[in-house]
Amino acid sequence: MANVTVIGAQWGDEGKGKIVDWLAERADAVVRFQGGHNAGHTLVVGENVYKLSLLPSGIVTGTLSIIGNGVVLDPWALRDEMVKLRGQGVSITTENFALADNCALILPIHRDLDGLRETAAGSGKIGTTGRGIGPAYEDKVGRRAIRVCDLAHLDALDAQLNRLCAHHDALRAGFGEPPVDRARLIADLKDIAPFVLEYAEPVWRRLNKVRKAGARILFEGAQGVLLDVDHGTYPFVTSSNTVSGTAASGSGLGPSAAGFVLGIVKAYTTRVGSGPFPTELEDETGQRLGERGHEFGTVTGRKRRCGWFDAVIVRQSCAVSGVTGIALTKLDVLDGFDTIKICTGYRLNGKVYDYLPAHAADQAAVEPIYEEMPGWQETTAGARSWADLPAQAIKYISRVQELIETPVALVSTSPQREDTILVRDPFAD
Ligand code: IMP
Repeated sequence: MANVTVIGAQWGDEGKGKIVDWLAERADAVVRFQGGHNAGHTLVVGENVYKLSLLPSGIVTGTLSIIGNGVVLDPWALRDEMVKLRGQGVSITTENFALADNCALILPIHRDLDGLRETAAGSGKIGTTGRGIGPAYEDKVGRRAIRVCDLAHLDALDAQLNRLCAHHDALRAGFGEPPVDRARLIADLKDIAPFVLEYAEPVWRRLNKVRKAGARILFEGAQGVLLDVDHGTYPFVTSSNTVSGTAASGSGLGPSAAGFVLGIVKAYTTRVGSGPFPTELEDETGQRLGERGHEFGTVTGRKRRCGWFDAVIVRQSCAVSGVTGIALTKLDVLDGFDTIKICTGYRLNGKVYDYLPAHAADQAAVEPIYEEMPGWQETTAGARSWADLPAQAIKYISRVQELIETPVALVSTSPQREDTILVRDPFAD
């Protein structure tokens, strides 16, 4: 049976939450495979609004929800999120939720370091979510992380803590901070361990088992391809691989598990945090897109930067992530514009580029080449079939599809689950 991998094809915030929720209804398992609680997914189900950062979206529908090994896990954030969701009536048990015992933990010292570095960097800062994501991944690949399974062996953690603290103490000293309070860290870990261990297991086993039994698995990506640590606008990226390939390595299933790769694409472009953004509009039009699209971060509340649709980066994202089809979101934000622009290429030092060059300075210097299309005055909000869309909106979608060299699988026309135009069902065999 088909699996589906959902990834953001821009800089995150493409509206993955709704699409994942829509697909989760028909999935047998939903898996987070990278990132941490830097993600923010808003699910609107009827009157209820659920805000998720770490838990897979399937949890709301009671679908088996798994946090895979590729995630960095802040156990205190997880506990808070579970308390909040249970307060909204969501059931979370060992039947419908499991987390990988080989997940690396985000500790309070990671959050400290994230904040210290960002403050020290001044205008050169990355603009992180301040959740300790980068430092936690650094410790993971530096082989000094504390992992979920370590929580069952806290009395045998000395050697690992020595390595971890030696590293952090040196960094903290550089910022004039006192060394890690080791006794406090151990006490905090002892306190949270029983809660985490209740849900910890080798999730690769469970996933392989449900897969063999014919389950449909939905892999829920966080952030977007332009924030990928290899393929994104480095160094203004997150610290994980956000491309579809990570669904396999971040969950413990082989590469064939990814199935249909659904790239989520907003009908215009936004980004939070610092870094290059070729089609950014720092004018009234950008303001209008932000207001109409309610472009404020779910996690940090920060105002998102806005701009026209950039077909160059989306084509690139679709290529490096092997996107099978896209879900186009927030089309209604473009309602009412006289004309709409699409970026089809870049100009840099007299040369035309059909891709985003790798160097940060080049990425910052490229000038977008636009083509202009007539807009539409009718509303597209709530449309559920092509017949509900104005002709110009259909032309816009067709042009997007052509430029990104990837078909549109669905169009989302409001935050409500039902307001979706389905072209190709990603779960169909
Ligand atoms: P970090 O992931 O907190 O280290 O932040 C690194 C970069 O990724 C910053 O530009 C953040 O704004 C961005 N980022 C992280 N998570 C998200 C997300 O879920 N949506 C959009 N941007 C994000």
